[in-house]
Amino acid sequence: MAYGDDYQQLSKYSRETLKGKNLDWNSKPPLYKQYPPDLEHIELDKPDRQGGEPFYSLLQQRRSERSYNKAAVSGSKLSQVLWAAQGITLTTEYHQFRTAPSAGGLFPIETYCAINNVEGFKPGIYHYQVPYHSLILLKEGSYGLELARAALGQKMLRDSSFNLVWSAMIERSRWKYDQRAYRYIYLDAGHIAQNAALAAVSCGLGSCQVGAFFDEEVNQIIDLDGVNEFAIYLSSFGETK
Ligand SMILES: Cc1cc2nc3c(=O)[nH]c(=O)nc-3n(C[C@H](O)[C@H](O)[C@H](O)COP(=O)(O)O)c2cc1C
Repeated sequence: MAYGDDYQQLSKYSRETLKGKNLDWNSKPPLYKQYPPDLEHIELDKPDRQGGEPFYSLLQQRRSERSYNKAAVSGSKLSQVLWAAQGITLTTEYHQFRTAPSAGGLFPIETYCAINNVEGFKPGIYHYQVPYHSLILLKEGSYGLELARAALGQKMLRDSSFNLVWSAMIERSRWKYDQRAYRYIYLDAGHIAQNAALAAVSCGLGSCQVGAFFDEEVNQIIDLDGVNEFAIYLSSFGETK
């Protein structure tokens, strides 16, 4: 079952297959995931958009850190990492642009935050609301251990202060790119995760990216249906000193 090999070949662009494709603007999915209006938005601290450590120094220092000291991380560090991952940096008449590039400006990736120990936040699963730079609490409780189990027993997800789970809402990208969308969601997520990892260095946090996990177990923890929206990447964050 070499479906990966097949996919790579079948999803290639060629001059022939690209001909005559039209977009149905009426079926374009919304850019932002919305929840019922009665769910409370928890405002995040205003992110620093200017400062931080010099860029090349961040690149030099970034390393996958898997041991955390379980200390509480400040809310401002969480805010900084979330903004670096997906924050809005430019609003024009028709578009909102973010810290990370996205194929076609379709932004199919959603960010969930599983908080274990962050000052001022109850442990729980939160959704990052990009346009408002806020969090919505989806369910209370410490899910670190469950996430660690779902990630093939990787304890850093239990010991971290918070974990980010990135999901893809595939139709946002498939609407335009059809099956090739599956290439782009992973590229988008990679950009986002690297931004978050560099912000973590700037905040003095350790972080590690996680691609090894039981898909359906992570989907269940976050309450994703696994078809229209599914987890594709995780990162853990915590104090290391
Ligand atoms: C797509 C991807 C998936 C990864 N998955 C895991 C993982 O599940 N567990 C883990 O400990 N590290 C994971 N890593 C981290 C790599 O092991 C790490 O980046 C690599 O060993 C290089 O080390 P460095 O990040 O310190 O430079 C992943 C990295 C990437 C880019």
